[in-house]
Amino acid sequence: MATERLMNPATLPTETDQSANALRPTRIDEYIGQRDLIERLSIAIQAGRQRAEPMEHVLLHGPPGLGKTTLAHVIANEMGSKVHATSGPALARGTDLVATLTRLEANDVLFIDEIHRLPVAVEEFIYPAMEDFRIDVTIDSGLHAQTVQINCKPFTLIGATTRAGLLSAPLRSRFGLVHHLRYYDSRDLLKILMRSSGILGMASPPESSMAIIAGRSRGTPRIANRLLRRVRDFADVRAKGKVSDDIVERALELEGIDHLGLDELDRSYLGTIATIYEGGPVGLEAVAATMNQDVGTLEDVVEPFLLQSGFLARTRRGRMLTRAAAEHLGVDTPTAAEADALFD
Ligand code: ADE
Repeated sequence: MATERLMNPATLPTETDQSANALRPTRIDEYIGQRDLIERLSIAIQAGRQRAEPMEHVLLHGPPGLGKTTLAHVIANEMGSKVHATSGPALARGTDLVATLTRLEANDVLFIDEIHRLPVAVEEFIYPAMEDFRIDVTIDSGLHAQTVQINCKPFTLIGATTRAGLLSAPLRSRFGLVHHLRYYDSRDLLKILMRSSGILGMASPPESSMAIIAGRSRGTPRIANRLLRRVRDFADVRAKGKVSDDIVERALELEGIDHLGLDELDRSYLGTIATIYEGGPVGLEAVAATMNQDVGTLEDVVEPFLLQSGFLARTRRGRMLTRAAAEHLGVDTPTAAEADALFD
């Protein structure tokens, strides 16, 4: 089954960096939403600049598509430095990390995506690097083993993860700022879409049309911008470039996105629980097996939004449809008594 869907907030391999990058804010005052985080970061950046020191290490966690990578670039830009981007799985051995760290210039940003997937052996190298900008390398082994200390330039580590719970406590405690990114509300998504439509050169689309896209973007700027590009294509081909509410509705219908922003994969997930498992409770593994889907995709990509929007409940005994989901799908709802019994 296709997991490369339009509503997947994870970056798609087909999405060229260029098209996504053009819409990314580069300065902190251009950044829309996540106000509390932006305020904390502005202070930390300014403090770092005043003291000519790198900014403190930052750990960002939250669902994909909410701006973790963008923020790493914004921070580096504000510090007048460069971003070196890598990921937990790419740093397979200690030597990979040593090579990356020794390439950093003073005050650069090292961005490690999926930091929860950093191998344990590599994690140990990173502690002295984060604390003292020093890497301890053991050369030789047995009787002749010696530790050599290599200094690296002062840098800021920005770790990003969708699974904060999987991070070890010692790693987590070495970040000066830890922040959870939340889904964006429709007003912020609307502002992002108005900004993006300008950058894409769309002839001032009506705000009402942009608000329709905002309402179906699952609180995620990456999805909003991706839908905007689909709408622009549809309008260019079918309406001489003129965006209207009707054109947006038709473009999104063509993409299989319903009025709540659910796509076919969401509906198939909810539909499987509704029809095969009678609304649940059911274990995620069973749902994944029935759908022939990967457990991780369902957990990281499909479930967060369904949980947050009240379509899905996680109970002690497994996943369960809520009344809102059952109504949306047009199936029988669990009785109030049944639902209550699961939460006791
Ligand atoms: N594009 C994507 N995310 C954005 C944000 N948070 N602010 C401004 N533009 C964006």
